[in-house]
Amino acid sequence: MQSFKRTISCGLVNEIYLGKPIYLSGWVQKRRDHGGLIFIDLRDRSGVMQLVFNPDFSQQAHKQAHMLRSEYVISVRGTVVERSSETINNELSTGKWELQVDELIILNKAKALPFSLEEAEHVEEELRLRYRYLDLRRSAMQEKLALRNKVMFAMREFFINKGFYEIETPILTKNTPEGAREFLVPSRLHPGFFYALPQSPQLYKQILMASGLEKYFQIARCFRDEDLRADRQPEFTQLDLEMSFVEGGDIQSIIEQLFSCIWKKIFGSELKVPFPRLTYDEVFSTYGTDKPDLRFDLPIHNCTPLFENTELTFLRSVIDKGGNIGGLHVRGREFSRSELDNWVDKAQKLGAKGLLWIRFKGKVPESPVARFLPENFFNQVQEIFPTIANGSVLFLIAGQYKEAWTLLGRLRLALAHHLQLIPDNQFHFSWIVDFPLFEYDEDNKRWDAMHNPFTAPQNGWQDIDPGDMKSRAYDIILNGIELGGGSIRIHDEATQSTIFDLLGLSKEQAHEQFGFLLEAQQLGFPPHGGIALGLDRLIMIMINAPSIREVIAFPKTARGYDPMMESPTKVDDKQLKEYGLKIIPVKKD
Ligand code: AMO
Repeated sequence: MQSFKRTISCGLVNEIYLGKPIYLSGWVQKRRDHGGLIFIDLRDRSGVMQLVFNPDFSQQAHKQAHMLRSEYVISVRGTVVERSSETINNELSTGKWELQVDELIILNKAKALPFSLEEAEHVEEELRLRYRYLDLRRSAMQEKLALRNKVMFAMREFFINKGFYEIETPILTKNTPEGAREFLVPSRLHPGFFYALPQSPQLYKQILMASGLEKYFQIARCFRDEDLRADRQPEFTQLDLEMSFVEGGDIQSIIEQLFSCIWKKIFGSELKVPFPRLTYDEVFSTYGTDKPDLRFDLPIHNCTPLFENTELTFLRSVIDKGGNIGGLHVRGREFSRSELDNWVDKAQKLGAKGLLWIRFKGKVPESPVARFLPENFFNQVQEIFPTIANGSVLFLIAGQYKEAWTLLGRLRLALAHHLQLIPDNQFHFSWIVDFPLFEYDEDNKRWDAMHNPFTAPQNGWQDIDPGDMKSRAYDIILNGIELGGGSIRIHDEATQSTIFDLLGLSKEQAHEQFGFLLEAQQLGFPPHGGIALGLDRLIMIMINAPSIREVIAFPKTARGYDPMMESPTKVDDKQLKEYGLKIIPVKKD
């Protein structure tokens, strides 16, 4: 063999090639010496093919094969032969054949690897990220990227068939508050001035509607300088879309069609549409969150009436201050006394000041506060929880509604995980609608937009208190994770200016930050709305991965660091000077 050649991929070898000479290239996955024969598992992206080096067939190739080690990159020529029946490997698609090699070229050698690819699942994540190219050689990782590619292709196909244009929007953009902190990029041409990386293409896509493009989508990179979690990265990908002349229901329907199409293509299964639509108020009061996991029930109930006349001082003071007592009811599970006490600790770790438990033995309540409970307590509880029975446990948290219910929501999830109430392999989609327009920021004593400042308010908003105004926003939730959010937008300057005003922006600030939008809203802006879905989150949930880092080729660590490139890095003074920048040490608290 003069130079390297490849006629077919390893995983595609089949009976058609029997007896024929072929060229393969790939990585040495495994080498085994059996008597005079050397066997190599050769791997490329498509799969694995067994090579056999037999000195009777080629002495030269056999001699060279002695030098092969794991992860060497080689190219071989040989003839496809059938394996003997006892050596057939049914786990490989190519397991019935092997390649009798007569020529071998070593294209690249490999030193001992920093970790074995077979054991990568158990290796520290930072090491996997440091050598991401090794990590990504594993078929488990390649399958994730292949799925991601398939989903992205299906999305593009779906939207283009529906008459959408994919339009790229700038990465160097303007600092405009949208919720999260932004990454800033200093400008050399305008020293002292900064671009911001986009948190999302929000304003550009709205401007595209003002431009008459009508149906836009983009698989868009977004950047947010926020604290990272398993489902958050500083840079991530959204499927972003916007349409003119639509209502919220139109956007929801197109997303349902999109998911039906993706589920059919990827899983071959039908999704039940339309997805349930629940209001923010009802999900918060039942599940203590605006992203409820609806694969299991375990609702929160308001138990305040049970304690209306209580002498327990801690409950009394909560009720007297206008607070509430919320409860979860678990039945059919045995909890020992020490387990119940452990749940008090767990609730505290979740942020609660305390957790009150009441267990029923027959109709008799057992609890650290049992002697303060009235005689007919069981019957009273039965009115709120009709299925209460022997062995039932109530978990109660008292406090101001928002805070107490948020904690109960966290406890609900922790209990569900512990009690294994969450079914595997189930996809539960839902829409949350009728969000509040604003939420109050106690620290800064002002209203913040719950979605973004461009979200349209629902009819009648002018006549009510900002705290009661509802928006035309909607979120889509999958298995308790916020997969996406969107809204019908404001398209007239008067409403937009009033909203900026309610958000505490002066006229000057509004014009400085959003002058282009306010101007466009006076130059023929159509009604419009849209949504963005977190693509990384979607793929993570589709394969039940523990974090979005598993489905991103080159993610950052939880500390926002890239261990392979070793970024971020310092830059030298000369470069800083060009930007007119000077580094002042930041005190970390
Ligand atoms: P929102 O801020 O809700 O809406 O973002 C939409 C979706 O993007 C995903 N997402 C993230 N994924 C990974 N890492 C992050 N740091 C991260 N932040 C958000 C989530 C989220 O639901 N412009 C609006 C959309 C619109 O109104 O059309 C927006 O960006 O899945």
